[in-house]
Amino acid sequence: MAVRQPIVSVLGHVDHGKTTFLDYIRGTAVAEREAGRITQHIGATEVPLETIYEICGDLVKDKKFKVPGLLFIDTPGHHAFTTLRARGGSLADLAVLIVDVMEGLMPQTIESINILRQYKTPFVVCLNKVDRIQGWRTVKDATFHQTYKRQTERVKKILDERMYELIGKLYERGFSAERYDRIEDFTKNIALVPICAKSGEGIPDVLLLLVGLAQRFLEKRLETEEGPGEGTILEVKEEKGLGPTIDVIVYKGSIAKGDTIIIGAEEPIITKVRALLKPRPLDEIRDPKERFISVDRVTAAVGVKIAAPNLEEAVAGAPLCVADETMEESISRLKRECRIHVETSDEGIYIKADAIGSLEALAFELRNEGIAVRRAEVGDVSRKDLVETAAYNNPLHRVILGFNVKVLPEASETMAERDVEVITGKIIYKLLEDYKLWSERKREEIERQTRISVVYPGKFKILPDYVFRTSKPAVVGVRVLAGRIRPEQRLLREDGRVVGTIKSIQSEGKNLKEAIAGQEVAISIEGVTIGRQLDVEDVVYIDIPEKDAKLLQKTELSYDEKECLSQVLKIKRRGDKFWAM
Ligand code: GTP
Ligand code: MG
Repeated sequence: MAVRQPIVSVLGHVDHGKTTFLDYIRGTAVAEREAGRITQHIGATEVPLETIYEICGDLVKDKKFKVPGLLFIDTPGHHAFTTLRARGGSLADLAVLIVDVMEGLMPQTIESINILRQYKTPFVVCLNKVDRIQGWRTVKDATFHQTYKRQTERVKKILDERMYELIGKLYERGFSAERYDRIEDFTKNIALVPICAKSGEGIPDVLLLLVGLAQRFLEKRLETEEGPGEGTILEVKEEKGLGPTIDVIVYKGSIAKGDTIIIGAEEPIITKVRALLKPRPLDEIRDPKERFISVDRVTAAVGVKIAAPNLEEAVAGAPLCVADETMEESISRLKRECRIHVETSDEGIYIKADAIGSLEALAFELRNEGIAVRRAEVGDVSRKDLVETAAYNNPLHRVILGFNVKVLPEASETMAERDVEVITGKIIYKLLEDYKLWSERKREEIERQTRISVVYPGKFKILPDYVFRTSKPAVVGVRVLAGRIRPEQRLLREDGRVVGTIKSIQSEGKNLKEAIAGQEVAISIEGVTIGRQLDVEDVVYIDIPEKDAKLLQKTELSYDEKECLSQVLKIKRRGDKFWAM
């Protein structure tokens, strides 16, 4: 059985050297063009096995591999990878995770690792930029051992320290990693290779590892099957003279000009391939308008641009297949594949993302943080989304998290008029951070507001010698003993009777909105006569409505407020055992 070349994603934090890594491999291959035969695809670069053998040199010895080469996908920035799915798993058969040796694990590295783990994709970690270790002696194109031998003890020590720090950090995240040449069981350990993407040091080792991993673990997955093509859309692009086109990685079967293809969506798109386009080899580009060559057929694994009618609605990350006799079946399968695998709850927040894969990645990270998702959709934030979110009961859930999406203009207006927050971003961890900040602020705000509307515990004592008026209204001097008192609050006696209402609070001729524990103020009380319902030296409580008392039992209170509340509960429960339970 023949095998196709594995699709290898190159991932890592911004600027850690993904493109440089590929440039090195491409450059070498281009320099040795006769032997190299490197092929540039749409969104991918194919490195044939012979080129890998050349780069690896003596390292290969007499090893023989079946895979015809490696098809590398560069992931600019970060997000593209999360959208690269195929049949519910990862489109990538393998991955290279690039980590800057000076910076170590960064948020996007961790994000990449989580996604690799989620999809169970085998990967190799490259500890890049070793030449930035002070005193490093560059040995161009060398294998790791060739260059390591040439370094001073001091440099070796620094490299080892950095490497073990990374290994430790990976361990904390549940991964056991080790320098690749010390690994015995590649199913249990992640291989780590120190490299310099600029000089190529260590890159022979990485290539050989990738080919070896593919050979050992992926043979079944890579078996080529004749038949209708299947692929994943990398990007939807407007091309001059062609209109909307889709850049596709085909991972199975073949696609030919004139084929009917089905593109997954809620309402799958059915269209006919008008042209299959591949980039011209570099040395053939004379006129930039002739960037592409039209071909009649492509076979997996390959990156290709497809021109066809009705592509306007296609989205990145969507699956695609060639229709055969079982059209109905294909349509329902693609519909199924487009279904979003996100666990939703009855309560929670609304999330949006640019593609199915990225939406699932966001949901995955949220779940890790214990944040519930009520609804998850692909697409920009629309007015409809905001209207829906505005109706959520819990104000802490009235938020939309958007990953790599825009807020549509008519939605921005809605945002202002309704109490809904929209948080968007291009990095998941940043999005989570922003969300946490927002929810904290929101929680505080809610608490402040409840403090205004809820009747809080309070008690005071009527001071002797300070009865200014006995009734209509009674005006007396009091000392607040605990909590707070406010106008319009009703009063509760220790025997459980509710008597009178505070009309106003005064201190030094000024009206107060409240008085708190320790203050001595004058208050006017409607509905009592001093000497009858109330008297000097009486300790009087603020009467708390039952619903507020329930809420307060779950609220953070100060010590004296808590005491006061429990006294009120005791008074009330003398008459009704289950009061505010
Ligand atoms: P994004 O695509 O923006 O995420 O970045 P990237 O990961 O593709 O990084 P890129 O390859 O563009 O490299 C970023 C910078 O690091 C460039 O200035 C490179 O020249 C530099 N760089 C990459 N590899 C090495 C290396 O091995 N050594 C040194 N010294 N610099 C490197
Ligand atoms: Mg790059």
